[in-house]
Amino acid sequence: MTIPDITIAVDGYSSTGKSTFAKMVAKEFGFLYLDSGAMYRGVTLFAMEGGMAPDGKINEDALKKALPGLDLHFQREDDKTLLYSGSRCIEPLIRTLEVSALVSPVSAIPFVRAWVDEHLHAFSEGGRVIMDGRDIGTTVFPNAEVKIFMTAEPAVRAQRRFDELVSKGENPSLEDVMKNLQERDYIDSHRETSPLRQADDAFVLDNTHMTLHEELVWMLGLLQGKFTLLETPGITW
Ligand code: DC
Repeated sequence: MTIPDITIAVDGYSSTGKSTFAKMVAKEFGFLYLDSGAMYRGVTLFAMEGGMAPDGKINEDALKKALPGLDLHFQREDDKTLLYSGSRCIEPLIRTLEVSALVSPVSAIPFVRAWVDEHLHAFSEGGRVIMDGRDIGTTVFPNAEVKIFMTAEPAVRAQRRFDELVSKGENPSLEDVMKNLQERDYIDSHRETSPLRQADDAFVLDNTHMTLHEELVWMLGLLQGKFTLLETPGITW
């Protein structure tokens, strides 16, 4: 089966496995994978390292002035797509609990969202893209041909994020991880600009009890259904 050069938008709550799912689909069907959350994390790290978020309070004026000088871009290495700031790979630095604690307020700032959106559109110019985030199907690519909204039970999500942090050598408490997830879910879905919400035409994927393989089979079924339909226009049944 050949999947046409479409755009696939994957949105959902924190730690629902959006990026794992999107990477797997990208590899299977030959799409470019873009992680929009990494961009917000990159801006957050930039603010933290530049002294623009002392004591967790964001200095919006300073950030607004400095942001045009930030050069964030993705680089493909083997199977991975890594985020760079200039010539420095910042991938591990943007995944810490410290960045996670500040990223939701940073991503709620309208000029930050405009800056990130502009970059995401530029990176996607070649098409055939799968992008994950919170507002991809609603704001960044409202015309995406396929939209997925991912969800899973909070306890399962917290355990997944906890395991991920531990595997990276961090030593968080499950309680802190759960608290961070709940805070981010709340801020992400209640902010004024582009809040997290399910697009009307999104397909819901609840992967609480699913394996990755089952997620892929689900996606294949969805694409098959959609594109068989497109390949045989006018059919009635
Ligand atoms: O997917 P993630 O956990 O790496 O995203 C980090 C944060 O970035 C998330 O808490 C909210 C924000 N984000 C957003 O506001 N819009 C997106 N499209 C992607 C992420």
